[in-house]
Amino acid sequence: MKVIAFNGSPRRGGNTELLLAETLRGARERGAEVTTYRLDSMNLKACLNCGHCDKAGRCIIKDDMQAVHDEIRVADRLIVASPIFFFSVSAQTKIMIDRSQTFWAEKYVHKKPISPGPFGRKGLLLLVGGMKRNEKNAGFECSEATVRAFFRTVNVQEHVTLSYDQVDEKGAIVKHPSALHDAYEAGKALVSV
Ligand SMILES: Cc1cc2nc3c(=O)[nH]c(=O)nc-3n(C[C@H](O)[C@H](O)[C@H](O)COP(=O)(O)O)c2cc1C
Repeated sequence: MKVIAFNGSPRRGGNTELLLAETLRGARERGAEVTTYRLDSMNLKACLNCGHCDKAGRCIIKDDMQAVHDEIRVADRLIVASPIFFFSVSAQTKIMIDRSQTFWAEKYVHKKPISPGPFGRKGLLLLVGGMKRNEKNAGFECSEATVRAFFRTVNVQEHVTLSYDQVDEKGAIVKHPSALHDAYEAGKALVSV
């Protein structure tokens, strides 16, 4: 089973990365083939809203997203992992998501949705934020809405979300009572059929 994972955090060894690593450890243990994209290290331009994908069914911007588009087409499982930045996903994550507008055009304009493949397509969303959820922190809700729209656009029909608040300092996620174990179990469950 082919899994692709997007790490949307710019912080090396940060909470998103640690959480994602546990998820991928679980998925690999169950035999999954995993490709991880560290979005901050990639050459990714923001969507231009140029309309090319509406007309031609492909994105016109020639950067690292072209290869990601090909991988998204054939993945069985997709994982998005992001810190909460200003009540939403990180800019790196959002750029990747906006560039998936080409899949929206394929699905709704050209009526060619991505094939569900042999296992169906499932997703996992991992979110980490520093604030308390009850401090009017809409970050998790905003991020959920954004990533849900992305998942449905790329024909991921169901997904699970793990979200952790009050995780701020670099590496603080390791002190959380359940997060790393939850992530590991979620990785195993994601690739189980
Ligand atoms: C630019 C910026 C904006 C942030 N905005 C929020 C926010 O709106 N809500 C929140 O809960 N945490 C916010 N945080 C805290 C991060 O989500 C938190 O430090 C998280 O653990 C970072 O994950 P990482 O270690 O994977 O980068 C912000 C951090 C930065 C750097």
